[in-house]
Amino acid sequence: MSEYRFPADFLWGVAASAYQIEGAVAEGGRGPSVWDTFSHLPGRTARGETGDVAIDHYHRMEEDVDLIAGLGVDAYRLSIAWPRVLPRGAGEVNPTGVDFYRRLCERLLERGVTPLVTLYHWDLPQVLQDEGGWQDPRSVDWFAEYAAVAKESLADLVTLWTTLNEPWCAAFLGHGSGLFAPGVAEPGAAFVAAHHLMLAHHHAVRAMRDTSPRAEDRLGIVLNVIPARPARPELAGDVEVAAIVDDIHNRLFLDTALLGTYPDSILALHRRFGVDERIDASALAAARADIDLLGVNYYNINRFEHRPGAPAPGEFPGADGAVPAPPPGDVTDMGWGVEPDGLVEVLRGIDADYPAVPIYVTENGAAYPDRVGADGAVDDPRRIAYLRAHIGAVAEALEAGVDVRGYFAWSAFDNFEWASGYRMRFGLIRVDYDTLARTVKASGHWYRDFIASQRRATQRTSRGG
Ligand code: FCB
Repeated sequence: MSEYRFPADFLWGVAASAYQIEGAVAEGGRGPSVWDTFSHLPGRTARGETGDVAIDHYHRMEEDVDLIAGLGVDAYRLSIAWPRVLPRGAGEVNPTGVDFYRRLCERLLERGVTPLVTLYHWDLPQVLQDEGGWQDPRSVDWFAEYAAVAKESLADLVTLWTTLNEPWCAAFLGHGSGLFAPGVAEPGAAFVAAHHLMLAHHHAVRAMRDTSPRAEDRLGIVLNVIPARPARPELAGDVEVAAIVDDIHNRLFLDTALLGTYPDSILALHRRFGVDERIDASALAAARADIDLLGVNYYNINRFEHRPGAPAPGEFPGADGAVPAPPPGDVTDMGWGVEPDGLVEVLRGIDADYPAVPIYVTENGAAYPDRVGADGAVDDPRRIAYLRAHIGAVAEALEAGVDVRGYFAWSAFDNFEWASGYRMRFGLIRVDYDTLARTVKASGHWYRDFIASQRRATQRTSRGG
């Protein structure tokens, strides 16, 4: 991989999301989101942790942008908190919220860092949840309205836009297992939410194309594509449950995003759970909007074995008897395997099975229990190895002809890792949660040096060297 030269215009970035870093949840006119509500319910997050303060990015934005720029990246993927911009979900725009994101994007651009904006990283305004949230068909219009407001507010500063982050998590962890906000656990609800999320995505893309259009606009969506493999490939039962998990986790979202249709297996599950009576699946085809980029988040491979009689996991309703099996080899703090081959498989698979669309790896990274040395430095060789191996996987996909345009490490900073709280540290920059002091980890220095070496290599190439 050290030999590999990425294209000169390949975008190197880091990523984060609003609720995980901003804090200041009741400031600047922000309304509450489903994650404020959920994280304050007893027993829903590790140690009862919440994003109330998070890493206080809202108040330290300038310093944080300087740290991001210091990593030498081309781009930063951020998300807008919907309830900061539209505290009541729809209707009146909060100028203080808009101003925060304008200042953030302006500062990034001043430091030579391109913003890539995600509209929805799971923080639905609570007022909209109270109206039914993603289970309500009106959510499609609410999101399209918000997308237009965001576009209009930042059109002169932002050209790279994505609508939803990982709608599988919002739908199936939010409404299937209930492990994420809003904490609903009902199979039908998960499929209904998934449908409205994907319909909302298409309507939002259309709304954004119509609002303050610019020739440079690139609009897309971010999906987490996690291969599902049979734990014992020789057993038909394992193969079958892995296939249905793959359909729920990956195919459902890739097909609805890129083709505007559902896999047959998902339509069958709609019928089984009475979802066909609550939604009109064909509305997707009519609403389908082309996208200019596909964001792919990749962390690991899931494995399943079939145990007859075992209930389907809440987040995979319909995968009866599917029991998760541990990954072979090394795992990160999240218990996720370290399997860069899976990223090659994902990128090549999308390239083979779907219409051509430029791909950005919009998240990839690892949580490890970092230690601060006596000298204050954070030496995190395992994170460096993880990043190096996965960047190598991107190189392999590029060599195989896949149109990958960028890579974003997750995450710029240690942050609030949802239901797992603050113990899971994904950052290239450490945050001390007592003092909120930031320290660039060895992985951050490594990433900076790696990007710089790529730039030197492509400069040499363009000079004919
Ligand atoms: C992804 C999320 C991101 C972060 C990483 C570890 O599923 O998009 O916010 O939590 O996982």
